[in-house]
Amino acid sequence: MTQHQRLLIIDFGSQVTQLIARRLRELKVYCEIHPYQKVTDAFLADFAPQAIIFSGGPDSVTREGSPRPPKSAYTLGVPILGICYGQQVMMQDLGGLIEAGQSHTAEFGRAFVTPTDTRLPLLEGWFAEGREQVWMSHGDHVSRIAPGFEVYGTSPGAPFAITADVSRNFYAVQFHPEVHHTPRGAKLYENFVRLAGFTGDWTMASYKDDAIAKIRAQVGDKQVICGLSGGVDSSVAAVLIHEAIGDQLTCVFVDHGLMRLNEADEVVSMFRDHYNIPLIHAEEADLFIGALEGVSDPEVKRKTIGKLFIDVFQREANKIEGAEFLAQGTLYPDVIESVSFSGGPSVTIKSHHNVGGLPEKMGLKLVEPLRELFKDEVRALGRELGLPESFIGRHPFPGPGLAIRCPGEITREKLEILRKADAVYIDQIRKHGLYDEIWQAFVAILPVRTVGVMGDGRTYDYACALRAVTSVDGMTADYYPFSHDFLGETATRIINEVKGINRVTYDITSKPPGTIEWE
Ligand code: XMP
Repeated sequence: MTQHQRLLIIDFGSQVTQLIARRLRELKVYCEIHPYQKVTDAFLADFAPQAIIFSGGPDSVTREGSPRPPKSAYTLGVPILGICYGQQVMMQDLGGLIEAGQSHTAEFGRAFVTPTDTRLPLLEGWFAEGREQVWMSHGDHVSRIAPGFEVYGTSPGAPFAITADVSRNFYAVQFHPEVHHTPRGAKLYENFVRLAGFTGDWTMASYKDDAIAKIRAQVGDKQVICGLSGGVDSSVAAVLIHEAIGDQLTCVFVDHGLMRLNEADEVVSMFRDHYNIPLIHAEEADLFIGALEGVSDPEVKRKTIGKLFIDVFQREANKIEGAEFLAQGTLYPDVIESVSFSGGPSVTIKSHHNVGGLPEKMGLKLVEPLRELFKDEVRALGRELGLPESFIGRHPFPGPGLAIRCPGEITREKLEILRKADAVYIDQIRKHGLYDEIWQAFVAILPVRTVGVMGDGRTYDYACALRAVTSVDGMTADYYPFSHDFLGETATRIINEVKGINRVTYDITSKPPGTIEWE
């Protein structure tokens, strides 16, 4: 198995630490984020990073007991880059001075850094236009740099915006090069990993081979079950595992009758017929829709579906003799341990439905071959495995399916209308070449009937809402700014082509304060 070059990101709790990892992965550098509490001297020695990055963070190094990296980080002999809080901690640890926040030195938002010396390999390609736009977010600032360091760039609120001790390969910047608002920040990361000797050995082809070897070693000759939802993550996991262990994998597709038009058939034909993966298709629409009769509370809907899903999955999985493993499409953002300073419990906005809880209940061990990947890397892996583009680029679809796009009581009639309207809407989006620009788009059928006139007759049919959002990770979202022409044409098509809908609205709520789904 290949051993990738590894970079360690020590997380001090910045909101944007994940973006550092994203920038590095784009440069084909393998990196992991670990919270500072976990990074001890022993951890460091074991991880053996080829370079280290100290993230930003909300604390103040002037506070007694504030977060620190282990001292051995400075004696490992590897390059270190400190960002914001990471700069301040490095300066203080190595003998510099930090001053606690005062209003005239605090800097939040856009700032410009000008060079004091450009002969630094980290700055190659920077300052071509005399200054660089950066994003600052600091209250404290460095007031004296540590011995051995020089200043290379300065801004009005951060006289030591870019500092380095070239002999030790230590670099420290006050701003955040990983965010969008530092437009050429990626170049700094590129320079940093180059000077640290990274060769860009983190490619999907090598990842695939390693992952296959790992799955074989973990599973041996035992059987694996994989819950297939039709989404990108579980599909990529299934195809990868199948490539590793062939018929030792059985997929279970619980069809709750809340899928989109033709979706269940597509999933079954793709996996069973195209990939020849043993697939159990549990057709349970009657069970789910029966249980949802009369239910209009969103949380009750979610819990009802989640519980039935687990029951059916378990029943089907029990039929597979000798199954010892459960495969899940868990991604890296789900496993990064976050640094929490608030400590308080967070509020449940919606009970998400997934197969959580199943492995313990069934005594199964987990196979999670995507645990190290971000979403776009899963897509790249899917391409590497030959999954069709139409499948890889699909918008996310929630576990509870159309149930949460049908506010109020669910009926088969409403589901039927919703499926048709959604298909027309997505067809419109594809025809106009907008599908890949939009993060997620769907129709929700509303629990109101409205009066209309078609031809010479009166109609009294359902209203529906179109939703389309842009987003990076689904945590925040903006509505998509369709043109009025597009909206008008789509409304006309839906009303003409879908019997049962006579009014179309467009949802222009962002998240927050709204959520993406309606329930
Ligand atoms: P919300 O509506 O919370 O949705 O803004 C954010 C993203 O999550 C998806 N979603 C789910 N995905 N199980 C899932 O697998 C669920 O129960 C679930 N609920 C919402 C939603 O479609 C959006 O992409």
